[in-house]
Amino acid sequence: MIPLMKVQMSEAAPAAVSRVLTSGMVGQGPMVDEFEQALRERIGNPHVATVNSGTSGLHLALRLATDPAGTGQNGDRGEVLTTPLTMVAANWAILANGLRPKWVDVDPATLNVDLDDLARKITPATRAILIVHFAGYPVDLARLSGLLDEAEAVHGFRPAVIEDCAHAWGATYRGSPLGNHGNIAVYSFQSVKHFTTGDGGLMVLPDAELNERARRLRWFGIDREAPGRGLTRDDIPEWGYKFHMNDINASIGLANLAETDEVIRRYRDNAGFYDRELASADGVRLTERAPDRQSSFWVYPLLVSGKDAFIKHMTEAGVMVSQVHERNDQHTALRPYLSLLPGLEKVVEQLVCIPVGRWVSDEDRAHIVDAIEAGW
Ligand SMILES: Cc1ncc(COP(=O)(O)O)c(C=O)c1O
Repeated sequence: MIPLMKVQMSEAAPAAVSRVLTSGMVGQGPMVDEFEQALRERIGNPHVATVNSGTSGLHLALRLATDPAGTGQNGDRGEVLTTPLTMVAANWAILANGLRPKWVDVDPATLNVDLDDLARKITPATRAILIVHFAGYPVDLARLSGLLDEAEAVHGFRPAVIEDCAHAWGATYRGSPLGNHGNIAVYSFQSVKHFTTGDGGLMVLPDAELNERARRLRWFGIDREAPGRGLTRDDIPEWGYKFHMNDINASIGLANLAETDEVIRRYRDNAGFYDRELASADGVRLTERAPDRQSSFWVYPLLVSGKDAFIKHMTEAGVMVSQVHERNDQHTALRPYLSLLPGLEKVVEQLVCIPVGRWVSDEDRAHIVDAIEAGW
């Protein structure tokens, strides 16, 4: 079976981890510092904070965005416009922050939020907007920013935007990596992402002030970088979490970072092959490719007619395929927020993702295309 996802682990990682294990420091230490420096250079943004998962990053991002005074209060604190087509982690972070999700419909052309629907749903209750770059295809961030300009003119405030970049390591918008477009961006370094630290995540912040607060709140609210390294007798003005990364995960990240360009190149090469070969295949529609953005293709999405038959046919051909994320809005925990979402209905009827990662060989991808062209 050709897997849909697979761990991408450098052969140098075991030795790197072993050095940390015997170093006497396995918590947050010099490897995290070195990893963060490498990430700053790679993303091209000085304001980065590693965390122990993408989920932690999303919880903290929503806190930063919706509780600027640092009261840490729960209770009803307003709405977050969000997508129902994502991993539940993103929407649980909204509930955990005492916020209400308000669903934005999904655009079948991109599988991202439908920006027309988003514009209609901004109200004085909107505290933040959580977008996901689905499969690594960037949301049109310039258009989103324009919509927020208009909302600001009408409502007198500008909701914060949080970009969930869990699928989008290596993606670019207008030539620069995600995390450079004025919003809080959160990456996931979970096991089967393009780039893994075992488990882990990265917050990229738009300014030094938010970065300083993120770094404090990821470790109980204590400033580890203060002179004396945040001794526990220091006063803590704002409570925080235990979300920091440790040196074991950072050492895996440093080993994998050295190979990440090569890994992403292969994902893109496979995606380019599918773009060419499947453009006119019967029963299959490809998603949008805009010239100002480059997807990272964490998975390769297709809209197919006869989805159940397609999945059975591909499974019998030895190819693992899946929708990847189930719609979130019908879970019992999210039922109070149900609304009509015609774009999502269409997408879940047709969406299937096929394998595109580095492990997909030239023979594998030709086999996948042949299986699709044979019909189902
Ligand atoms: C879209 C999306 N958001 C958030 C997460 C959570 O990231 P993590 O597993 O690093 O907590 C994931 C996935 O694993 C994801 O796919």
